[in-house]
Amino acid sequence: MALTQIILEGILNNLTTLLVFLVVFILLWKYLQPSPYNFPPMPSWKIPFLGHLSFFNLKTHGEKDFWQAAKNLKSSTIAVKLGPMTIVILHKYEDMKECFMSDNFTGRGRVMLEELVFNGLLRDGPRWKEQRRFALSALRDLGLGKNRMEQKIQDECLYLTKTIEEYNGKPFDPTTITNTATSNIICSMVFGHRFEYSDQSFKRLMFLMNENFNDNLRKAMLSEMIPGTKYIPGDFFRMKRLKKNLDEIKETFLQPEFEQHLKTYDPNNIEDFIHAFIHEQKAREESTEQHWFNKQQLMWNIDDLFNAGTETTASTLRWSILCMLHNPNVYKKVRAEILDTIGPDRPVTMGDKRLLSYTEATINEIQRMHLIAPMGGLHSNEYTTEFKGYKLPPNTGILVNIYAIHHDPDHWDEPFKFKPERFIGPDGNFQKDDHIVPFSLGKHSCIGEGLARMEIFLFFVTLMQKFTIKSPDGHPLPPMEGTGGGTNAPKPYEVCFIRD
Ligand code: HEM
Repeated sequence: MALTQIILEGILNNLTTLLVFLVVFILLWKYLQPSPYNFPPMPSWKIPFLGHLSFFNLKTHGEKDFWQAAKNLKSSTIAVKLGPMTIVILHKYEDMKECFMSDNFTGRGRVMLEELVFNGLLRDGPRWKEQRRFALSALRDLGLGKNRMEQKIQDECLYLTKTIEEYNGKPFDPTTITNTATSNIICSMVFGHRFEYSDQSFKRLMFLMNENFNDNLRKAMLSEMIPGTKYIPGDFFRMKRLKKNLDEIKETFLQPEFEQHLKTYDPNNIEDFIHAFIHEQKAREESTEQHWFNKQQLMWNIDDLFNAGTETTASTLRWSILCMLHNPNVYKKVRAEILDTIGPDRPVTMGDKRLLSYTEATINEIQRMHLIAPMGGLHSNEYTTEFKGYKLPPNTGILVNIYAIHHDPDHWDEPFKFKPERFIGPDGNFQKDDHIVPFSLGKHSCIGEGLARMEIFLFFVTLMQKFTIKSPDGHPLPPMEGTGGGTNAPKPYEVCFIRD
């Protein structure tokens, strides 16, 4: 008895030491095991929990810092740790093509904030595949690339022109009107109707969406990357605000629109995205196959269409105006081409595109130099994947530095100069370059590319046709700097539009 007690006491007294020893041993053993994976070179310094997060300027999308890190490591493919995730970053067009065209990288990483956002078209997996296919076909049927959408944008050009005229040449910040015009195009496509620029409920919708996309979402995502921040009292990381805005959008706008569309649904008259969705939902009612055509999914899809399709196009238009202020010679040539070809009054059409080579070259140069999404969207692999001699574990993040591709000195002559002429071929006509990828490419490429291109062309050419633009008297030119928000918009500036 006494002996058993002595042994038991001995074990108990040393149990803590034993456990500590065991944990240290397992950790050391795991650490010393050769990893079955191998990653591209990584910047050497990293901070526990944050990884390389603190090395990058979070006021931008990190594009310049990542590129510099790649140059320092003498490798166009690098890896970084951002919070808990390892992310491989590509800097070459050929690598982007190989990676994004393959089926191996269609994931969206560990989906952040997934109970709140990113559950619609910006997602991954079978649900995303089904919804992407549906959205692409719905957008096509609703008139993308055909006259129907063109007509709606032309109508919006008239409203935009009229609103700008009301400023009488006085300086103003074009942020609100460009956002309103592009939001109205998404409204026409999704709800089947547009709003007046002065409509208070529309202003509120835009405010909520803009605040979420450009401010709340970014902060909430940061909180997901830094462990423990969720438990900080208050709402420093804007999680509550994000949710509150989403609830208001749903209750005040989406829900009533959905109810109204249910009442007016006519299978022979599908004129907008909501009716197309209800149509598909009804077609699947009897189906035993798994599908995601339900009301909640529609709400998420609409949220994604607004988030992805409003600010992006509006910011591109604001970069365009800014580029014209900074490059008066290009501006003069663009205006002259437009006025010589279309004249001052006729509405601009998509058919004019092939006649306006220099203008088209200028738009390409604007999108080359001023990216709305310089790092594109986050991709990831589902299974262990070999890529460029590296062996990546499942759920490795993949980002492409589109900024680096658009400025790659191996491809572009004087990449940091604004030179639309680089897109003019020997025959004097516009010449496309595949290395321009503002909409990304491959399996997750932007589904709104066709619509966005149409909007940018029609809005930009109309503005150039109708107005002389100039900086307010006595003011220096606004800086060519981006905000680095959800979309890399130019910093707010004022401009005068003078009606000719
Ligand atoms: C100048 C305007 C725009 C730019 C520069 C742009 C750019 C992009 C980029 C870079 C991506 C990420 C692709 C990837 O992860 O590889 C994307 C995705 C997406 N965009 Fe756009 N976009 C624009 C306008 C639009 C518009 C007007 C819509 C809506 C009609 C839209 C809807 C989407 C959607 C739904 C996705 C997610 C696609 C997927 O994951 O399968 N975008 N866009």
